[in-house]
Amino acid sequence: MSAPAAVLAGLGGYVPPRTVTNEELSHRMDTSDAWIVQRTGIRQRHWADPGVATSDLAVEAGHRALKSVGALAPHDVGMVVVATTTPDQQCPSVAPDVASRLGLGTIAALDVAAGCSGFVYALATASAALVAGHAEWVLVIGAETFHPFLNPADRGTAVIFGDGAGAVVLRRGTADEAGAVLTVDLGSDGSLKDLVGIPGNGSRHRSAARPHHADERYLYMNGKEIFPHAVRRMAQSSSAALAQAGWSVDEVDHVVGHQANLRILHALAQHLGVDKERVVAHLDQVGNTSAASIPLALADAAAKGRFQLHDRLLLTAFGAGLTWGSAALTWPGTALA
Ligand code: COA
Repeated sequence: MSAPAAVLAGLGGYVPPRTVTNEELSHRMDTSDAWIVQRTGIRQRHWADPGVATSDLAVEAGHRALKSVGALAPHDVGMVVVATTTPDQQCPSVAPDVASRLGLGTIAALDVAAGCSGFVYALATASAALVAGHAEWVLVIGAETFHPFLNPADRGTAVIFGDGAGAVVLRRGTADEAGAVLTVDLGSDGSLKDLVGIPGNGSRHRSAARPHHADERYLYMNGKEIFPHAVRRMAQSSSAALAQAGWSVDEVDHVVGHQANLRILHALAQHLGVDKERVVAHLDQVGNTSAASIPLALADAAAKGRFQLHDRLLLTAFGAGLTWGSAALTWPGTALA
């Protein structure tokens, strides 16, 4: 009998209605549509309206993913994992609120903070819970409201990030089923923690006997230094996940990488030896949505009918921490589209 595994059973994505084009940003700061498209591949992003927070986006995406499963009853879901770096508040975590608002009852609910790798870390957490028998169904959501954390004076980040949420429903099944998450590889390098982050508002700053600088509330990113780390770590992690799954690179039908920069995705494809046509790129429409980027890209590609039953997917992400992670899974069929 095949080994127990998490199996993909539902999928949903949500972006707030307000679209912010490169053209609009070029009126606010010293940038241009041509620079942003050429250096990142991003054409637009979505920003949440004032007062809208990450849990609101997570509830929308979670609702869509649950609905896509059809006959699933709310009480069947045993756990909610929300990957986010932009929670509504420092405490409590957003997952219990999301579970409650989705009508899922008093189930296990936790946030996972791993920057832009958060969704893969959450997928690993959920898979482990399912395989261990802690739940039969788990809702995994990546959700971010990044735009309030963007420094309007920093054109290196302000043009990159967007808001959104993506969600998957996983069920306890077996590794031979279509949709099975076969392997996950995770890693981190905390010695490079200062390359990207939001330094203000944590215990380090609260306990420091010095006034906070206003900019510490904002996301800081050394994009130039991060770029090669992102390519190298995602390539290494992808290779590790594929090796564990017993797949060669040639057997991968779709690479769904973290949607940070089209140049990074193409460099990753080159490192792996995958042609660009197999790389899923959705960032032109939504920018970098951090922990939401992989499930949003999955939802968009599935809606466009890009994936077929039994297709082999490689997910790979990289983010603050530094953190990275990859997963190998098969596609469960057109029902998810
Ligand atoms: N508009 C116009 N010019 C810009 C700009 C913008 N929005 N942002 C930066 N520039 C300028 C810089 O000031 C610099 O000018 P200079 O040459 O006169 O000094 C020039 O463009 C090049 O800047 P640089 O930072 O080297 O650009 P880049 O090609 O590295 O692109 C990123 C910047 C952020 C798009 C890119 O580094 C990146 O995607 N990094 C990885 C991010 C990532 O993977 N994060 C993962 C975790 S979130």
